[in-house]
Parts: sequence; structure tokens; C-alpha cells
Amino acid sequence: MRIPVIAGNWKLFKKQADAAALVAALVPLVKDTVGVEIVVAPVFTSLAAVREKIVGTNVKLSAQNCYWEEEGAFTGEIAPGMLADAGCSHVIIGHSERRQFFGESDATVNKKITAALSAGLVVLFCIGETLAEREADRTFDVLRTQVTGGLSGIPLSALASIVIAYEPVWAIGTGKTASDAQAQEAHAFIRSLVVELYDQHSADAIRILYGGSVKPDNVKGLMSQTDIDGALVGGASLKADSFAAIVNFAK
Ligand code: 13P
Repeated sequence: MRIPVIAGNWKLFKKQADAAALVAALVPLVKDTVGVEIVVAPVFTSLAAVREKIVGTNVKLSAQNCYWEEEGAFTGEIAPGMLADAGCSHVIIGHSERRQFFGESDATVNKKITAALSAGLVVLFCIGETLAEREADRTFDVLRTQVTGGLSGIPLSALASIVIAYEPVWAIGTGKTASDAQAQEAHAFIRSLVVELYDQHSADAIRILYGGSVKPDNVKGLMSQTDIDGALVGGASLKADSFAAIVNFAK
């Protein structure tokens, strides 16, 4: 039984007051929701403001990135242990926007995952192909490289703290969702990679989220697919009612 995860990635939006107001509006809308892990990922500077509003609720806190060292002369970076200290239980690593705009590679993603796991965080590990890669029929190759590279050296015992997020780059912020079948095909492939790299038991247990233009009106179809265990939501997570409708997909 895989417990679904619905995570809101707020990206570079919402200063403290707006972030606090958003989560304060969300909490009552999802307070009776059981059987779904609910996560929000504000910008670093709004973590404390959001944390204050979710104490004692069923909403969990995530950061959107971290560095791989715990401390040192690394100006401008934030360590996984500092995120845990700030109240985060989760961290997003390897988002396509970081790969695209900030030069993150499978190797840096791997270092970050390793460090975040050591700090006790649950990792939302993002992968996904670009439109050019899909059109060149390279989707499975790209996913294989990203999964293998990102999880290199990660022991089977740590897999329970990893959630994979499949986000086809062409579906992010474009309003173009992968069809249920396209998403299911990729998810099934990703799960088969986990069987190859680890074993069937871990592959059956790992949650694989879909991300890319998830909205209240398409979440049900996606969630009905065998290998889709949740969603990583961008735009629609910036409003309490639309995010709550996604969280409450089963109602
Ligand atoms: P959108 O839901 O805005 O397409 O963003 C998806 C995403 O990148 C979540 O991490």
C-alpha cells in the first residue's frame, strides 16, 4: 500500500505574509483528509512563517533545494541539516528548473540526495525529459540516466526516504499535461528501473509522483493510474482552494 503524496512546489513565489496566508487558508480545507501525505514547499525565507502555521496539522514542510555540505565556506548555500533545523521534513532535489537554469547535473543531484538523506530528510527526487528528448524518442534513455545517476550509491535501506517525481519538462507550466497513459507508461518504466537497481519489494513500495500542469480537473485521471502515487504541483498549489481540491482528489 503506497500512501499518496500531494506536494505543492511554490517555486519563486510568496513572501512571508502571503505564504503564511496561503497555508493558513489551506489547513482547514485539508484537516480531515486522511491517507494522503500533504507537503508544501515555500521559498527558504518563508519556511519559518509557514512552519508556524502548520504546527500540529497534517501539512508537512519542504524546501525546494539544498547543498551537499553540512557547513563550511560556501557562501549563499543552505545545508540539509539547517533545513531540518528549520522544520523541514522534506526537500525537493533535482527539479528540472534547477537542472535547466542552474546547471545541476545527475552528479550534483546525487550528492544532494546523499546529504539530504543523512540529515534525515525525505527527498522528492525530480526527473523528466524535455520535449526535444521525447520527440527524439529518448524519454526512456533520459529517465534511465537520471534515475541511475541520481540514486548512485544510495543503499536500499535509504529508499524508503525517497519519493521520485516524474515531471516531463514539456508539461511544466505549459498547461499541457501528459495524458494519463503517457504518464503511466513513464511511471511503470521508472518502477521497473527501481526493480533493476534494487529489488521488487522496494520498487513496489516507492512512491512515484507525477508533475506538470496538475489541476483539480485532471488529478483524478492521473491518480487512477496504477503507478502514479501522487502529484508535485506548481501553479495550482499557489491557491488554497485549487491545491486542496487536488489533495482531496479522492473525495
Ligand atoms: P506546474 O504545475 O505549474 O506545471 O509545475 C509543475 C512543477 O514543476 C512542480 O514541481
